[in-house]
Amino acid sequence: MIEYRNLRVAVLGGGSVGSQVADQLLTHRDELAARIGAGIELAGVAVRSIDAPRDTAIPRELLTTDAESLILSADIVVELMGGLEPARTLILQALNSGADVITANKALLATHGPELFEAAEQVGAQLYYEAAVGGAIPIIRPLRDSLAGDRVKRILGIVNGTTNFILDRMDAHGESMADALATATALGYAEADPTADVGGYDAAQKAAILASLAFHTLVPADAVYREGITEVTLEQVVAARKAGYVVKLLAICERLTDPVTGVDGVSARVHPALIPDTHPLAAVHGANNAVFVEAEAAGPLMFYGAGAGGIQTASAVLGDVVSAARRHVVGGPGVAESTHANLPVLPISSVMTRYQIALLVADEPGVLALIAALFQSHGVSVETVAQSVAVVDSLSATDAPSAATLVIGTHEASEADLAATVAALTTSSVVHSVTSVLRVEGL
Ligand code: NDP
Ligand code: HSE
Repeated sequence: MIEYRNLRVAVLGGGSVGSQVADQLLTHRDELAARIGAGIELAGVAVRSIDAPRDTAIPRELLTTDAESLILSADIVVELMGGLEPARTLILQALNSGADVITANKALLATHGPELFEAAEQVGAQLYYEAAVGGAIPIIRPLRDSLAGDRVKRILGIVNGTTNFILDRMDAHGESMADALATATALGYAEADPTADVGGYDAAQKAAILASLAFHTLVPADAVYREGITEVTLEQVVAARKAGYVVKLLAICERLTDPVTGVDGVSARVHPALIPDTHPLAAVHGANNAVFVEAEAAGPLMFYGAGAGGIQTASAVLGDVVSAARRHVVGGPGVAESTHANLPVLPISSVMTRYQIALLVADEPGVLALIAALFQSHGVSVETVAQSVAVVDSLSATDAPSAATLVIGTHEASEADLAATVAALTTSSVVHSVTSVLRVEGL
C-alpha cells in the first residue's frame, strides 16, 4: 500500500463548534487516519482572541490570530467563524490555494454561495457544507447524492433549533419567549445575533440551501418568504394545543404551479404554522430538527436529530473532513453544484394553503352569517367553525357579556384571497378584533 503524506487541517474559529471539531481531530486522530487512509494533522485554530475561554482545551501553541498564514499551510480548511466577512475572503483564499473547504456557515452560503461554488469549480476543489443545515442531521449528502436520481417534490422541515426550543418551552412549560431564548443562548444554540433565529432569517437561509439542492435551481435567500416567531404569543400556543395543534416554525420548499398564471416553478417559505398534534413534526422537541422529503420514486423520507449544539454539529463537520481527505487521497476534481433545472422561483402569492383565523366578535344573532358571507365574497371556503364565550380583559364590562371567540378553519386558499378576507374582517362592524391568523400545514 502506498503511504500518503499527512493531511493538514486548518480550523477557522474555536467557538461552540470549532472547539469541538479541534478536540475531535486531536482525540480521534488515529481512528480518522485509518478511515481516510492517510494521517490527519490539526495545523491550527484561528481565533479572534488567544485568551478567550474555550469549551475544550485546545493547546495554546495551536491557537493563532493569523488565519491567512494558517490557510497557506493547509490541505483542508474548516470555516467555523460565522458571519460574512472575513469568512468569505478566507474561503476564497483557501480555495485558490488549492485547499478543499468545509463550512457550517449557512448565512455565507445563502448570500455568496454561487461565488464560492464557482471558485471551487474553477480550481477543481470542493466546498462541503453538511453542517450548514440541520446541525448533526445528514441532509445535504442525501439530497445531493442519494436522491440525485429521483425528483424531489416537497420538503417540510423544522430547521432552526433555537426557535423550536423556544416554542417547545412555551408549549410544555408556559414559559415566556424571552426566558426560553435566554436558555437557548446559554446552551449555545442561538446565533451570535439571535434575531437571525427568532426573525426566521437562519431558517430562510437553510430553506434556500435545501431548495437549491433539491430542485437543481439557484434559490437565493432573499427569494424565500420569511416570517419569524416574534409575533407568536403564549395565548396562540396554548389555544393551538387545546384545539389539537402545535405551533412550529416551518421551512417549506416545494415544486408548484401558480394557480393564476399556470407557471411551473419552485417556492420556499418560512413561517410559524399550526400542525396537528398527531403529525410526526409535532413530536420534534427541544433544539431538535426534522426534515421531511417527499420524492417521486422514494416517497416520504424523514431525517431527524440534533439541529444545533457544538459537539453535535462537529459530527457533521468531521464527516466532511473525512470526505475531503479521502478525495485528496483518491485525487480528481470536486463535484460541482447542480443548477441545471433553473426553474422560476415563485412568490408567496403562488402558494395555496389552509388557514386558521381567530376572531373576537359580537355575540349577536346574524353575526355568524355575516362573517361566513364575508369569507365567501373573497373566495375563501370555510371548513370548520368553533365558537366559545370570550374571556377578554380588554373589553369593557358592558361589551364583555356579548363577546364570543370564533375560530375559523379554511379549505386551501390563496394568500391574496386570505389577506383580503382578513382586511375585510378587521374593518367589519361585528368583529372586535382579529386575534390570530396562522397557516395550517401537515393535514
Ligand atoms: P461561535 O460564535 O461560538 O464561534 C466563532 C469563533 O470564530 C470564535 O472562536 C471566534 O474567536 C472566531 N472568530 C470570529 N470572527 C473571527 C475573526 N474575524 N478572526 C478570527 N476568528 C474569528 O460560533 P459557532 O461555533 O456557534 O458557529 C460557527 C458556525 O457554525 C456559524 O457559521 C454557525 O452559523 C454555524 N453553526 C453553528 C451551530 C451551533 O449549534 N452553534 C450549528 C450549525 C451551524 P474568539 O473565540 O476568539 O472570539
Ligand atoms: N442557531 C441555529 C439554530 C444553529 O438554532 O438552529 C444551527 O444552525
